[in-house]
Amino acid sequence: MKHSIGGICVSIVQKEQHKPREGFATSLGVITATLGSAVGLGNIWKFPYMTGENGGAAFILVYLLCVILVGLPVMISELIIGRTTQANAITAFKRLAPNRPWYLVGVSGTAASFLIMAFYTTVAGWVFSYIFKAASGVISTTDPEVTTQVFKTSMSAVWSPLLWQWFVLLFTGSIIMLGVTKGIERITKTLMPILFLLLLICVIRALTLPGASEGLKFLFRPDFSKITGATILTAMGLSFFKLSVGMGTMITYGSYFGFRENIPYTAVKVMLSDTLVSILAGMAIFPAVFAFGFKPDAGPSLLFITIPTVFASMPLGNIFMVLFFLLVSIAATGAMISLLEVPVAYFTEELKWSRLKATLVTIISIALVGTTATLSFSTLGDTKFFDKTFFDLYDFLTSNILLPVGGLLITYFIAWKWGLKNIAREASNNGSLSNQPVINIYFFIVRYLAPIAITLILLNGLGFIKI
Ligand code: PHE
Repeated sequence: MKHSIGGICVSIVQKEQHKPREGFATSLGVITATLGSAVGLGNIWKFPYMTGENGGAAFILVYLLCVILVGLPVMISELIIGRTTQANAITAFKRLAPNRPWYLVGVSGTAASFLIMAFYTTVAGWVFSYIFKAASGVISTTDPEVTTQVFKTSMSAVWSPLLWQWFVLLFTGSIIMLGVTKGIERITKTLMPILFLLLLICVIRALTLPGASEGLKFLFRPDFSKITGATILTAMGLSFFKLSVGMGTMITYGSYFGFRENIPYTAVKVMLSDTLVSILAGMAIFPAVFAFGFKPDAGPSLLFITIPTVFASMPLGNIFMVLFFLLVSIAATGAMISLLEVPVAYFTEELKWSRLKATLVTIISIALVGTTATLSFSTLGDTKFFDKTFFDLYDFLTSNILLPVGGLLITYFIAWKWGLKNIAREASNNGSLSNQPVINIYFFIVRYLAPIAITLILLNGLGFIKI
């Protein structure tokens, strides 16, 4: 009897061990999940306000260069590392370089996901709350004074932004608890098409505003006198943040890719679609900024004070405004899911926690750190480090330091430690894809161009060298 119970136990353990790792079941799911991670507040909130603060078209050009020469190669590298190792960001490096300190890249990436979530959920909380503000009609006005006032009052309150932030964490956490296929893949498959449709509606409305052309000029006519070392670092930081690279999200998602997926192709598709969404978001926002006499350099509040005026001036504006903030919430959700998945994948795989426990521990820790970011606009407004509030500090530290350094180490690792032979095998699916020329270009960029560019931009942007 004892023996047979033991036997059953052994066979259950064996079954557990051989249970196939969960992953994305379809190629469409691969694209929607990966794009869902890339598209987020970065496109609709950060990209427009940073473009506005840094002079418009010239900033966009620098940003695009960074996306192509740095962001994209890091993305391909991470997806390759993830799929080869079939593991979370930390374990992935342990498998490729056993007994070496490279896994610390994964540790720092996982820490970055907490810090990004800390301030991301603050903004996501504002966005979610704006769905209700839009529905109630308090921001249905073309008077910039009123929309500015409503925004200032709501973010400087103490409890309501905090409760919204915690709600957002619970909401995203509940999707993550459903798992990779039933949670991440299914939800992003539904949400991404809705997002594109809603964005197109907003762009059409903004472009038909009287005076829209001023906004377009700002977006598309470059003035290079605005570009400084710090601006270039900001653009590069944005390209990392935008493509969700430099911190392990793409390693984690790559580990859910099937072995038939064409990694370089998928990465290019995601990069192009993500850039399109940013440009479209700019086209929805800047015409309104100029049409209603706002300043383009309003900073993080730009979205919240200009967008209401776009909709307030049109028939059925309230409904469209609700849809718009719904769209931003959807975009933010896809990105937050991928940020949560980084630590959750580690906790479940390495520490063998259940998904429920891993998710709860993660969201509670983020809520604790995130509270300091949200309160940066009220009670903690005067607490500053290097002249930055908690909110600004988490943002600066992740986009401008942790992600670029992570990206630098990842490209260095893959090109100089792992090598061309392994890359070629993995990027061509064992030779079954005929994409050798693409792989050669990628290899050149990742071996020389990307690491050198990242290093120079970092040192120059932080003031260590002057180019
Ligand atoms: N790419 C997301 C956005 O643009 C943010 C993000 C950064 C998501 C890093 C995952 C990892 O909003």
